[in-house]
Amino acid sequence: MHLINLTVNAEEVRIEVDDRWTLLYLLREVLALTGTKQGCGKGECGACTVLLAGRPVDSCLVLAREVDGCDIRTIEGEAAGGELSALQQAFIDEGAIQCGFCTPGMIMSARALLMRNPHPTQEEVEEAICGNLCRCTGYIPIVAAILSAARKESS
Ligand code: FES
Ligand code: FES
Repeated sequence: MHLINLTVNAEEVRIEVDDRWTLLYLLREVLALTGTKQGCGKGECGACTVLLAGRPVDSCLVLAREVDGCDIRTIEGEAAGGELSALQQAFIDEGAIQCGFCTPGMIMSARALLMRNPHPTQEEVEEAICGNLCRCTGYIPIVAAILSAARKESS
């Protein structure tokens, strides 16, 4: 076991982690942050995307012991004070959610994009979510939702 310190959604966490735990396991099974989803478990679907120091990562590919001292943001950090963010609301408004399994990872990839580029083009949005698979809605409403949120957040 390793003792690590990290920040998760602006809260400090000090916890002993097993060498074999992934960041995804730590978030879901230990910290009970189950908004982050487990899909393929091998870096192919993006369902487990979280922000590590502001950059999107597949949390199934990161070992928990590697995030000592790091800042992590999950989908639970997106809604401030129980209010949906503009990005979350745009997914609802644009019909960009069906089963919802891909949505947390999709939103985290979108959030990373909007943090570094508040005025993305359609092509930049498509590139930002190219590692996130959706089997339900198709990508047109998802891209529309992200562009809509970008307009709202920067107005
Ligand atoms: S569960 Fe991590 S990429 Fe699919
Ligand atoms: S809404 Fe079902 S996988 Fe995207």
